[in-house]
Order: sequence, then C-alpha cells, then structure tokens
Amino acid sequence: MLRESMGLNRLRRLGPPATLWRLFSTCSPSVTVLDRLPSALGTLPPGLEAFRQARGIHRWSDRTNQTGSAELHRLPFSRVSEQDLTFFENLLPGRTITDPDVLMVHNVDWMKSVRGSSELLLRPQTTEEVSKILKYCCERRLAVNPQGGNTGLVGGSVPVFDEIILSTSLMNRILSFDKVSGIITCQAGCVLENLSTYLEEHDFIMPLDLGAKGSCQIGGNVATNAGGLRLLRYGSLRGTVLGLEVVLANGTILNLLTNLRKDNTGYDLKQLFIGSEGTLGVITAVSILCPRKPRAVNVAFLGCSSYRKLLETFQCCRGMLGEILSAFEFLDSACMKLLEKHLKLTNPIAENPFYIVIETAGSNATHDEEKLHSFLAEVMASCLVTDGTVATEDAKVKALWSIRERVTEALTHDGYTYKYDISLPLENIYQLVEDMREHLGNKATNVVGYGHVGDGNLHLNITSHSKDPDLLAAIEPYVYEWTARYRGSISAEHGLGLKKRNYIHFSKPPGAVALMNDIKHMLDPYRILNPYKTLPDHS
Ligand code: FAD
Ligand code: MLT
Ligand code: ZN
Repeated sequence: MLRESMGLNRLRRLGPPATLWRLFSTCSPSVTVLDRLPSALGTLPPGLEAFRQARGIHRWSDRTNQTGSAELHRLPFSRVSEQDLTFFENLLPGRTITDPDVLMVHNVDWMKSVRGSSELLLRPQTTEEVSKILKYCCERRLAVNPQGGNTGLVGGSVPVFDEIILSTSLMNRILSFDKVSGIITCQAGCVLENLSTYLEEHDFIMPLDLGAKGSCQIGGNVATNAGGLRLLRYGSLRGTVLGLEVVLANGTILNLLTNLRKDNTGYDLKQLFIGSEGTLGVITAVSILCPRKPRAVNVAFLGCSSYRKLLETFQCCRGMLGEILSAFEFLDSACMKLLEKHLKLTNPIAENPFYIVIETAGSNATHDEEKLHSFLAEVMASCLVTDGTVATEDAKVKALWSIRERVTEALTHDGYTYKYDISLPLENIYQLVEDMREHLGNKATNVVGYGHVGDGNLHLNITSHSKDPDLLAAIEPYVYEWTARYRGSISAEHGLGLKKRNYIHFSKPPGAVALMNDIKHMLDPYRILNPYKTLPDHS
C-alpha cells in the first residue's frame, strides 16, 4: 500500500483516510477542498449596455479591434428582413429567437471580453434543418455564426456584428454506442459532461476532458480541436474522431460519419473541419472512439522548487509510470495565489514555486499504486519534489483536479485577462512567463503560467485592473515574436477565432495561409460562415 510503504500521514481536511494521503519529503515540507466550475453563462447581469460598461466588454460595432490592430468593418452581408424572419419561423417554430434577453447571453463570450449585436438566434434540432438554414442564408448572403456551448476563449463563438447565431444546443441526441468497439455517435450539441456520464454508465470514458466540460459541446470541441487534460494519454481529436457529418455553407450535407478506424480511400476530408472553428461548415454529428473506463485512478498533487526540477520530474514520471500516466499538468505559485484569493481554495501542500498534477489511469489498482509509489519515493528522495498529496477516491480526485481546472475561473476575478495559449519546446515553456514578467515590469497586475506540460502547451495569462491599451501594446507583438523565435505555435489548442486571426503568420508560412484561403473560398465562396474569424483580415 502506498500509505504504509511511504509512512504517510493522513490528510485531515479532505476526509476519509483510505483515499488521500499527504507526502512528506525529507527535502522540505499541508490540504483541502474545492468544488466545480459554475456555468459562467448564467451569471450575466441585466442590461447589456450597463454590463458592457461595467466590465469593459468590447462592442464590435464600435469598429475598433481588441487586438489593437486595424479597424474591423462589417462586410456587405444582407441584413435580416421581415421576410427572412417569416422563413425561419416557418422552418423552426418556437426556435427562432429574437428576444433580446436570450440573445444577450449568446452575443457575449465566456470571458465576457467581446460581444456582437446579433438579433436572431436559430435553434435547429436536425441536420436537415441546418441544411435548410444554410441554403437559405447562402442564397440571401446572410452571415452565420455557428455556436456550441459558447465556452471558446478566442472570441470565435460570438458574432462580431449582426451575424445570425446558429446554436446546436438542441441537437443533443446520442445516436448510437457500440459497446464492443467503444465508438459513440452523437449529434454535435451533446454536452461533453453528459457524454462522459453516459459512457461511464457503460464502462467507457470520453477521450477528452476539459474544465468547460459542463457547458461545452462535442461539436464545439471538434470545431476547435480542443486538447484538454487527457491529450497526453489518448491523443488529439484528430486521431479519436472517426467520422463527421457536416453541413456546408450552401446547405449540402456531407456525410463522413463512418465508424471505421482505418479508411485510406482518398483524402481524409473530416480533418479539414476539425479545428476549422465554424469557418468551413457546421458540424452536425460526430463519431468518436472512446477508451475503456480505467478501474484505478490516482491523482498526485506535488510541489517543485524550480521549473528545471519540474521537467526532471516529468522525465522521471514518463519513465517510471509508463503506460498508466494519463496527465501531467502544472500551475505556478501566482496561479495558486489567485485560487486562494478569488475562489478561497486552500493549497493542499506547502507553498512552492510550481505545482504538478499527475494522474494515473489503469486497470490494476495494486500495480498502479506500486508504480506510483516507486515514482514518488524516487522524486522525493532525489529532491525533485518537496511535498505532495495523493488521492484515489473519486471525490478527492476531483478536488485535486479542480485546483488545476479552476485557474481559468480564478483569473476572471482578477480584472481583465489577456490570454495566450502557446506551444513551445518543453525547456523554454516557463522562460516565456519569466521574460514577460520582466518585460512588463509593474504594468500588469499578474503574469501567470499554467498548462499541459505533457503536451508542451503553456497558458500564459496577464491580468490588469481593466482593459489597458498600453499594456496590450507591451504584450503584443512581443509574445508572438518570442514564440516564433522558439519555433512555437501562437495557438496550441484554443484556435485563432477573432482575437488571434491576424497573428497566424507568426506560426504559418504565407503559402500555407494562402492555401487555407483557397480552401475557404472553395467551400464558402460568399464567406457567410463565421466571418472575421480564423483567417487574417484582407484574405
Ligand atoms: P463554442 O465556444 O460555442 O465555439 C467555439 C468555436 O467553434 C467557434 O468558432 C464556433 O463558431 C465553432 N463551433 C461551435 N460549434 C460548432 C459546430 N457544431 N460546427 C462548426 N463550428 C462550431 N480548450 C482546450 O482546448 N483545452 C482545454 O483544456 C480547455 N479548457 C477550458 C476551460 C474553461 C474553463 C473554458 C471556459 C474553456 C476551455 N477551453 C479549452 C476552450 C475550448 O475551446 C472550449 O471550451 C470548447 O472546445 C469549445 O466548445 P463549445 O461547444 O463551447 O464551442
Ligand atoms: C486550460 O487548460 O485550463 C484551458 O485551456 C483554459 C485556459 O487556458 O485557461
Ligand atoms: Zn488548456
């Protein structure tokens, strides 16, 4: 047993003994609780204008650009007419929404950083309805903003001007599940957490997991190629998505909904739509290969005195935990301070510059515990790790995970957040945070780093009391140039959306961007699908 062989003490505040243990290192030397991410969408105060002013939310019709680059102008799309409304009301009775209160929620992104001024929300239930909507919009040159759970972090999920919002929220049926292959096929509007709950009842899990699971939808996940907390183990959606059904801009239904693991008949067209952020088609159904539910899950929350030691711990972890390692995540002490200050979470261990969340998932509890124990003994003995705690019971596992998952939420209470999602060689990841701190001096309230170490993905977040153009000018393009110098990606997993579209050149050569434009032109010649997103202006 982990506890006996380590001589570990029991954690007081986290409850029942058999599940969560405190590790004491000889190198240097406490625990606690939390809950889950609340739905951010239910918290908008009344009165959009008052709300905008209070929070400094950007109104796009002001014609300025959050990123400080060129002004954005409404493209010459048609405006929704009475006749259009009649068409949609006949097609979607009771699901053609013009109520400003409902629209307000759909016009503002999760971070409450951008908002559009759409006056029409459509809620189709079937692929055929989506097809009829898009055929009509294409003929009428009406712009459309596909929207899932509206948890996207780059301003891609909300209209910029008056684009019609096409919400997949009512497309939430599971179409089939094969218990032998583990392949689930469902409509695009299924909420990730609901899919997880359904699968767990059948002894399977979803191959992806993220902090927004309670609100985000599988269609949105695929459209953003979301990475999340399990990518290290189960790979990206580019591997686990087996089939897609997509409705093209002109209403054509493209049925690529196969359940085959191997299919080399021509180009793999579904890959075009994965990560295309609603600019090439509306994803209406998805089939995904799901892993079996692990019988044993352990989570270790560890403290490290330096980023170098954190990397050495990762190296050791991969070697010693091997096939049972399912996540290796980190947050820095600045994140922990925000969790303590804004969410009243308590650090379960002694204060450290860095914190690691390691998850193991396997089929044999004894075997996994032995492996984890050997690994922990090794990293403690070699002083790579100074303190830690381990959980195996579900509630405690969730409690430890929420320390990492709720950093995003804590940041929203720290003022205006400038958010960067960078891929870098592992050795350079934290150097960007340190260089940014030095570069910004006292211009920012906080500069924090966290993310998916196992995937080489840093989340660099910078907060300030309110929106600050001078601060922004100090961050950008510095952050993008820094990233390009190390041959990183300026968007590891969140996409480009509205906020990052004009910085694509820092990560992609002109020829690649030109080819992307050609593909956009072929699939959506009138550019009605999610305009102003993903591709740079003047494309
Ligand atoms: P939305 O936000 O509604 O839309 C996102 C984009 O996809 C938009 O461009 C939209 O137009 C398009 N889109 C949505 N549905 C469709 C569709 N059916 N067809 C075509 N286009 C569509 N991301 C990660 O990668 N990893 C994380 O760990 C992670 N954690 C997060 C934690 C929190 C707390 C939050 C708020 C967000 C997090 N995200 C993370 C961001 C992530 O991209 C989204 O949460 C999720 O993938 C988007 O799904 P959604 O249904 O909310 O899509
Ligand atoms: C995460 O890993 O927590 C998400 O990508 C959200 C974020 O970057 O804040
Ligand atoms: Zn992330």
